[in-house]
Amino acid sequence: MPGTNEEAAEGIFRLRDGHEVVIRGIRPDDWTRLTELHRRLSAETQRLRFFVRMARLRPAFAKQLATVDFVDRAAFVACDPASGDLHAVGRYERVTPNAAAIAFVVEDRFQGRGLGPELFDRLVALARRNGIGEFRAEVLVENRRMISLLKEAGYPCGTSVDGTVETLVLDIGAERAPATPPGEGQG
Ligand SMILES: CC(C)(COP(=O)(O)OP(=O)(O)OC[C@H]1O[C@@H](n2cnc3c(N)ncnc32)[C@H](O)[C@@H]1OP(=O)(O)O)[C@@H](O)C(=O)NCCC(=O)NCCS
Repeated sequence: MPGTNEEAAEGIFRLRDGHEVVIRGIRPDDWTRLTELHRRLSAETQRLRFFVRMARLRPAFAKQLATVDFVDRAAFVACDPASGDLHAVGRYERVTPNAAAIAFVVEDRFQGRGLGPELFDRLVALARRNGIGEFRAEVLVENRRMISLLKEAGYPCGTSVDGTVETLVLDIGAERAPATPPGEGQG
């Protein structure tokens, strides 16, 4: 049922520093904004997202990324309330009846401000409504920020490493553990 899931509704989100962005479900016409966002990413952010340096997002690939059904494929974007420019994208894609692969990218100057965890929470809520109980992420082993985002999300998490790639499997169907208060993490 394309685009009908109420979890994909638009809303304002305030970053940790007070800056406001709009979070909404991705739309097919976002493909040009996706290519512009990709162009603004640092080489390192492109590499962490795609594992290789990808200088530009080809239009056919951008259109594919922007076209989802919010059931088996879903993506949320964070955008500027005035210009509409995209600052972040989080997505899932069902890979088995019960499991989905996830991927995120946050524009460099917006990293570390809470957008990744917010997009993750929205994806979890939508995925659960769509019968998905497991999220899988393949992350470069040096990507500590993404790995801690997933490990600290509060769901049972299994990991395995194969060369340069760590695979994390999250049981998002399980009850979420309470967040650890700041300063009480285990490093
Ligand atoms: C990795 C990435 C998506 C994280 O998004 P972000 O908005 O920068 O994430 P933040 O730094 O705000 O949040 C992650 C932090 O929140 C913490 N966190 C995790 N879940 C949380 C939650 N539910 N509530 C509060 N904090 C949470 C994590 O510990 C992490 O803290 P740390 O960086 O101090 O270790 C982003 O930095 C990015 O796009 N990087 C480049 C591309 C990339 O790596 N993509 C991932 C490939 S799948």
